Amino acid sequence: MKAKLNQIREEAFKLLEDENCNVEEIRIKYLGKKGELTSVLRMMGQLSPEERPIMGQLANEVRAEIEAKIAEMAEANKAKELEKALVSEKIDVTAYGKEQKIGKLHPLTQVQRKMEDIFIGMGFSIAEGPEVEYDYYNFQALNIPENHPARDTQDTFYITDNILLRSQTSPVQARVMEKTQPPIRIISPGRVYRSDEVDGSHSPLFHQLEGLVVDKGITMGNLRGMLETFAKTMFGEKTKIRFRPHHFPFTEPSAEVDVSCFVCGGKGCRLCKGEGWIEILGAGMVHPNVLRTCGIDPEIYSGFAFGMGIERITMCQYGIDDMRLLYENNIKFLKQF
Ligand code: DAH
Repeated sequence: MKAKLNQIREEAFKLLEDENCNVEEIRIKYLGKKGELTSVLRMMGQLSPEERPIMGQLANEVRAEIEAKIAEMAEANKAKELEKALVSEKIDVTAYGKEQKIGKLHPLTQVQRKMEDIFIGMGFSIAEGPEVEYDYYNFQALNIPENHPARDTQDTFYITDNILLRSQTSPVQARVMEKTQPPIRIISPGRVYRSDEVDGSHSPLFHQLEGLVVDKGITMGNLRGMLETFAKTMFGEKTKIRFRPHHFPFTEPSAEVDVSCFVCGGKGCRLCKGEGWIEILGAGMVHPNVLRTCGIDPEIYSGFAFGMGIERITMCQYGIDDMRLLYENNIKFLKQF
């Protein structure tokens, strides 16, 4: 039995010498309930009364030694693991953090919002209309009957003979007037479509902002004053506006409106192509036919309307020379605004 106990000690120690040994497995193998030392102790009963205390003491010594060695190894393993963790989980507190990229609004949206704010400040409210529109609202109600030549420059995408993608925001005028008696003071920004090839200044989808004011005694003077206020707020205090006679079927008289170039102040530069002026919108007094068609008596009421391209104003404001840049979603380009 003595030999057996010494053998157990030797074997256990040998296993525990190995740095990568599984300490818990060794503990169970030798000291566990069904372990080797325990089974030797069970045989104590067979010993003579003189031998028993001697073997008992030896067995206790062996157990104590193995336990001490196991504790030592467990301690060493723990230290080793801590060492490993300290190396592998090292944090460089001086390293740069991950940059949080905050998005922002597209330049077209920024400009549209700015325009909306200016008009809201002048007492306008925002009206919306459908992008898929009836021929009636896009053309007929606006004094553009079938086969009218004005349809040529506004060729668009047809869904049926009567339903199309609106070529302008002007149909919202008709929709609002049909539903509301004056006073009316609305703007209507939104997408419009035309059957145009893509190039630096054309796109089959673009944006306009429409305006309409109808009340008793509205004159072209009101239109001019209101547009001047808009231009000064949008482009700067020194901005002047100029009306040039034009023709739109839904206004009479009609005008194209220019603003003095806000880069050169009117002297002539690259942005205004040497003109000193930049065309920004079409406008005029709402045609009596349009008022009548929409259920408003032109003997009592008069009104003005205007429509401008949001792309054009955005391009002028930021000096963008190719419209395609606004739709390509190139982050490097968009980041600048
Ligand atoms: N709808 C016109 C266009 O797309 C722009 C326009 C001109 C709108 C005169 C108006 C207006 O309201 O009075 O070319």
